Amino acid sequence: MPFALITGGSKGIGKAIAEILVGRGYDLLLVARSADALEKISTEIHSASKRKCHWLALDLAKEQAAEAVFEWVNENQFEVSILINNAGYGLSGSFENYSAEEHAEMLGLNIITLTKLTRLFLPLLLKQRAGYILNIGSTASYQAVPMLSTYAASKAYVLSFSRGLYRELKKTNVSVTCVCPGPTDTNFVNRAHIGPKGRKAAERFNMSPQNVAMISVESLFRKKPEVITGVMNKFSAFFAWLLPKGIVEGVAMKIYD
Ligand SMILES: NC(=O)c1ccc[n+]([C@@H]2O[C@H](COP(=O)([O-])OP(=O)(O)OC[C@H]3O[C@@H](n4cnc5c(N)ncnc54)[C@H](OP(=O)(O)O)[C@@H]3O)[C@@H](O)[C@H]2O)c1
Repeated sequence: MPFALITGGSKGIGKAIAEILVGRGYDLLLVARSADALEKISTEIHSASKRKCHWLALDLAKEQAAEAVFEWVNENQFEVSILINNAGYGLSGSFENYSAEEHAEMLGLNIITLTKLTRLFLPLLLKQRAGYILNIGSTASYQAVPMLSTYAASKAYVLSFSRGLYRELKKTNVSVTCVCPGPTDTNFVNRAHIGPKGRKAAERFNMSPQNVAMISVESLFRKKPEVITGVMNKFSAFFAWLLPKGIVEGVAMKIYD
């Protein structure tokens, strides 16, 4: 069985996707920064399922990170048929609260590494009987989010890039799916430094990472180009499209300031 390569497989949505894919008989390649968490998951998965689960501890925000993942896969002759670009994070609060470097690092992970991994692995996926790419966007892909501006812009890129590539590859054996979750109960809010109002709003609508992962895997195998998880998030994206931008952005600003 070929491998599924998952970035950000150490926790949250990525870990939940890993557990579902193992249940469907896939071997796994997990990449994230936390070696301890990756080792633990890999051991648990292997002892529970006897599936292979290799891992690489790497900071994917760094330059040449995508190339390092590609080299690791090639050196070990792992055959990859599913690429899941899930690793990502946000930075909430005023744009000026973060240095140019901090913004660039986040954009490096959310945009550059995702794009490079897709470009590097595409030739290998095209050689498979069926190849799949899953990119994790966000409901923030659908609107500007003041106080989460660079993150929302990065996720707008993920959705636009995924849809474009989906169409480019439509006549091939490789499908591209962009799943856009809304608030999900993971470490995301902590890493993004989201304040009390944002946390409260998230808690009201939180989906479980398992639920988001289930929808993601279903959508991937159905070769859907774009999926928003959950009814509330579908409504939120619909209203972001329907209402004047000033209103939609004003509401977001109140949540994240
Ligand atoms: N949770 C939400 O409300 C929500 C909503 C919409 C979209 N999303 C998106 O869903 C995806 C998964 O996030 P999550 O909610 O599951 O958050 P999470 O629990 O914080 O998990 C993020 C994953 O990405 C990895 N990661 C983060 N920075 C990394 C880096 N520099 N290099 C390598 N790996 C890195 C983390 O592992 P390490 O810490 O071990 O590196 C972890 O495995 C992200 O793209 C996020 O933007 C989340």
